[in-house]
Amino acid sequence: MHPAATRSSQQTIDQFAKYVIPNYKRYPVALVHGEGSAVWDAEGKPYLDLFPGWGCNILGHCPPRVVRAIQRQVEHLIHIPNTWYTEAQGNFAEALVTRSFGKVFFANSGTEANEGAIKLARLHYANKSGGTQKFRVITFENGFHGRTFGSVTATAQPKYHEGLGPLLPGFRYAPFNDLDAVSALVDDETCAILLEPVQGEGGVNIATDEFLTGLRELCDRRGMLLIFDEVQTGMGRTGQWFGYQHTSVQPDIMTMAKGIAAGVACGAFLCRDHIAPSLRPGLHASTFGGNPLAMAAGIATMETIEEDGLLDNCRVMSDRFLKHFAALKEMLPIIRDVRTRGMMIGVELNIPATPAVAKCMERGVLINATHDTVVRLLPALNITSKQVDLGCQVISDVLKEMAADGV
Ligand SMILES: Cc1ncc(COP(=O)(O)O)c(C=O)c1O
Repeated sequence: MHPAATRSSQQTIDQFAKYVIPNYKRYPVALVHGEGSAVWDAEGKPYLDLFPGWGCNILGHCPPRVVRAIQRQVEHLIHIPNTWYTEAQGNFAEALVTRSFGKVFFANSGTEANEGAIKLARLHYANKSGGTQKFRVITFENGFHGRTFGSVTATAQPKYHEGLGPLLPGFRYAPFNDLDAVSALVDDETCAILLEPVQGEGGVNIATDEFLTGLRELCDRRGMLLIFDEVQTGMGRTGQWFGYQHTSVQPDIMTMAKGIAAGVACGAFLCRDHIAPSLRPGLHASTFGGNPLAMAAGIATMETIEEDGLLDNCRVMSDRFLKHFAALKEMLPIIRDVRTRGMMIGVELNIPATPAVAKCMERGVLINATHDTVVRLLPALNITSKQVDLGCQVISDVLKEMAADGV
């Protein structure tokens, strides 16, 4: 039994069965303690976590500076509504904006950030023309934007829409990286194009530079806003502070969540200065958004990334993962493609990827499978070369076995 546990995993599983709505598929262990890329279950078994917090724990588990910042903050203010100013919100806003652009609004999750961005795009053109004339939003096949009605409608994957209809009107879906297809969908009622610069849930699909440049040009020409969903690609995940910084293209609005406060619930969207006044008082708000606790965690997250040189580490470790998986691809015909951008890593198989997750877990390595055939990792930015090598060894053993078994 791990010292942080008060009972076995099975006892917790039984309690969930009685009291928790069973909408998640969960692995049959209760996790009780984590440090960096290591995490332990109730029985005391250690795991190397290559998917900490589904991308939220960008510094791994319980990063000391973030823990201390939270501890300091809770002694003074935990929550303050947005009818007041707080130093913490001002400081985090400044830290984000000075590394990107514009002005920021704080929410609590990725889906909320995207809802706000969609509202802002519609409001921006409603204000200009004195009525809602431009309302349509173009999004992309295999994208993922969240689970609330606006975001789930923006998510062009039928499996997430089943049984939910009618969805929010005013969305059109285009194939990713296909500029001509997007152009064909634009009409005079289109107010925005929304996409992830690297699709995460959709299988680590990287938007090409030409595609993003073309979208920017199209938006400028047709009077539309370009919105990047950087919920997964933001906060250093790709080796730059934000995914758009790999290109010459700057979006008009950028949404964020997941890693921005190292695992404390926090979302945000930024917009260019001239767009910000369209979000007039009363039209959008969040009770918890920008609370001092999340803000303190966010500031400490950014300080840690900067002071520990983690953008560099992210790039170096990304190359290391790529070398391992590229070598494995040479050996294993079941590997169709390897895609990496910083600490977003996808290994696409030509067989289902899900069995790899349980097999790796048995051997003490936590990974994810997405889009049926893609083994996916979202490691912490502070992962070490030893951890990369160990994780790749286990994944490689598992994939070799799957190839041999034809599973
Ligand atoms: C790109 C992207 N956008 C939005 C979301 C939704 O974020 P949340 O679950 O915090 O609402 C996710 C979650 O995986 C995501 O990957």
